[in-house]
Amino acid sequence: MRRIALLAILLAACAALLQDAPRASAHALLARADPPINAALRESPAAVTLFMTEPLQREYSSVQVLDSNGQRRDIGETEFAEADATRMRVNVLRLTPGVYTVVWRTLSQVDGHTWNGSYVFSVLNPDGSAPSGAGVVVDLDRPGPPLAADTVVKAVGLTALVLFVGALAFWLAAGGLPTPRAGLIESTVKPALAIAIALGLLAGGYEAVSAALQLGGWGLLDEVLFDTRIGLRLHTRWFALIAAALLLAWFARRPTPEWARRSLAVFALVWLASTAAVSHGAALAAGGVWGALFDALHLAAAAVWMGMLAALILVLWRGRAAADSHDSQWRAALVQRFSLFAAAAVPILLAAGLLNALIQVPDARGLVETDWGAAFIAKLVALLLLFAAAGLNAVVLRPRAAGGGLRAERWFGPMMRIELALGVVVLIITAALTQLPSPASALPDTEQRDNTISRTVARADVLAQLTISPNLVGFNRWELRVTDADGQPLANPVEAVRLRFRYDDPSVGPVVVPTVAEQDGVFSLEGAYFGLPGRWTVEAELRRADGDDLIAAIESDVVSGYQTVLPWETGAPGALALPLTQMDWNGVGALWAFVIGGLLLANRGQLRGRFGLRAGDASFVGGALGIIAAVVLLTGLHVDPGRTLQNPVERTPESVERGAVLFAANCASCHGETGAGDGPLADTLPAPPANFTVHVPFHPDGVLFAWITEGIRGTGMPAWRDQLSEQERWDLVNFLRDRFDPLSASAP
Ligand code: HEC
Repeated sequence: MRRIALLAILLAACAALLQDAPRASAHALLARADPPINAALRESPAAVTLFMTEPLQREYSSVQVLDSNGQRRDIGETEFAEADATRMRVNVLRLTPGVYTVVWRTLSQVDGHTWNGSYVFSVLNPDGSAPSGAGVVVDLDRPGPPLAADTVVKAVGLTALVLFVGALAFWLAAGGLPTPRAGLIESTVKPALAIAIALGLLAGGYEAVSAALQLGGWGLLDEVLFDTRIGLRLHTRWFALIAAALLLAWFARRPTPEWARRSLAVFALVWLASTAAVSHGAALAAGGVWGALFDALHLAAAAVWMGMLAALILVLWRGRAAADSHDSQWRAALVQRFSLFAAAAVPILLAAGLLNALIQVPDARGLVETDWGAAFIAKLVALLLLFAAAGLNAVVLRPRAAGGGLRAERWFGPMMRIELALGVVVLIITAALTQLPSPASALPDTEQRDNTISRTVARADVLAQLTISPNLVGFNRWELRVTDADGQPLANPVEAVRLRFRYDDPSVGPVVVPTVAEQDGVFSLEGAYFGLPGRWTVEAELRRADGDDLIAAIESDVVSGYQTVLPWETGAPGALALPLTQMDWNGVGALWAFVIGGLLLANRGQLRGRFGLRAGDASFVGGALGIIAAVVLLTGLHVDPGRTLQNPVERTPESVERGAVLFAANCASCHGETGAGDGPLADTLPAPPANFTVHVPFHPDGVLFAWITEGIRGTGMPAWRDQLSEQERWDLVNFLRDRFDPLSASAP
């Protein structure tokens, strides 16, 4: 009972540490802003609000607003939203017409990386014309990509953790062996543990100092340690490490009792949890708990394998002098014990690693196009070599050496060292991976898109071609070319052109701006006259020396140049949501059922040998159940969200018509007018939208409704729960069915 209680407390503590992991990615970057980047406002805003990509450490994140003389125009402290730590806001004084520069600085709650940036918006003159002045140049000393030193320290920290966990596991595993060499094992493992602790403390100390220096200097060290979450995590780890060191020191010259070894195991778990809690997996917007858990399992399995191997090599090496026959039996038993643990660790390592990879690489482009992807492929190559070496050792050399094969025995030792060396290589690459933004956490393309349009309008004998680029909210260039009907210069030339900008909402008054005559028949204008997203009408008033003035008007639907839908905003968030899209819960469950069932089946002989007949039977039954569960999960139990929902809105022509209007307004931008998935925004998404003609017939109404309501995580399909009423969403379903499902289209 006591053991179970202890285990429960431990699990709860680990869960608390992991739960604590907030949603985040790699750096807190600017996702969007209000007022938007490059916006031209007609009135002074009351405040500037920035939406960042991850939760901010309040004390070290700030927003400033500077006018074109570099004077601060913000008042009061930067405020943070209570419910959502990714949002920060600062109030501004009444801004007179001019150009303003917003400067922001962030410290991520998760990994302690700092970042900064700036953007410009302007407040227009009362007549709507562009103000004079320019944005100020801000000296942004970007911390830049993570230093090589950070990667080295991370690698040292990981190696220390692996050594600690593995050496301890080796010690505990060797405990049951009838061995005359317990003293040798103990005197080898204890120094290894001490070295691991020292390295772990050093690496943690470096992390704290590096965070303080990034923030502005040594003086901030105590604040980093005591005021931030990063500090909290480091404390937890240091506490565990120092306690472990004290225990080891206490029993340095005496045999270590069983309870002390168990306590060391607890400290090892804390160390593991505090490392997984700052991983990429923990940084997910949704499913952070699972991400951190898979990371922890992956790390633990790697540690058991590589750390035990290191301890084994050390013990064999220190015991090499006494080579009597008794001794060789003992060695074989140790090697066999290690093989058993390594063989159990590998499937767990692979399953957790596969899930982590699927989470971090939501689509294949991420692998090819990012540094993270390149490092990941390098890791796979190193892993393949490692598995080849391990396979050779486990399947060929060890059995032959145990059978007395001399050549095999001579090869076995060096090959084990090669296996370990390859493991260290994998660890170093893994350290580099933790320092790079993963494809899942990288900011989607926030480059300005190009939405340029060019329209030609014929008026009397004049052809007027107006080009607007990039035709996005903010700064644009308008260029008007006037020719006669054959494209030749006009006999009766246009002398001047004014552009009139009219917004759909009449409360935004029209603005009239003269253009600059560039060459014969070409007039241009640059400025931030599209201040808001929505429909703008641009009227060109052409003044002619001789003849009537002409007006040519074109309309443009202007969108924000910055992506408005962010992948991590879609779908149901929450630390417990499923963090990957390539698999559903059935798949994840099946994977683990398969791994655990397989392990039980494969090791039932060992378990019977150690714990008796009944354990053998139980592991056989458990293993078989696991495999059956995996098969059932994979084939049978698919529960799509919404599968059981009934459509309450009858598919009347009115409903379909309402749906069509909603579709054109909200969905065609991505899905395309014809539903082929080729809307203007399609290219900006992580995955292109599906072709409705192909997909809709396969899904019942309830499923379509659930997707529209909740969005589809990781694809860019937004959740419409808050934008559209329930009735509107069903209207959309009816429209989709009517339009894209030919067989049911005729049904009422
Ligand atoms: C920002 C772009 C975007 C907008 C706007 C958008 N969608 Fe999507 N939609 C997507 C993407 C991307 C997918 C995922 C494609 C896939 O899973 O193959 C998707 C998937 C879907 C699916 C599932 C298709 C399938 O069978 O896989 C439905 C249904 C859907 N969208 C309906 C809508 C409706 C209705 C609207 C408007 C209210 C809308 N979408 C607006 C991008 C968008």
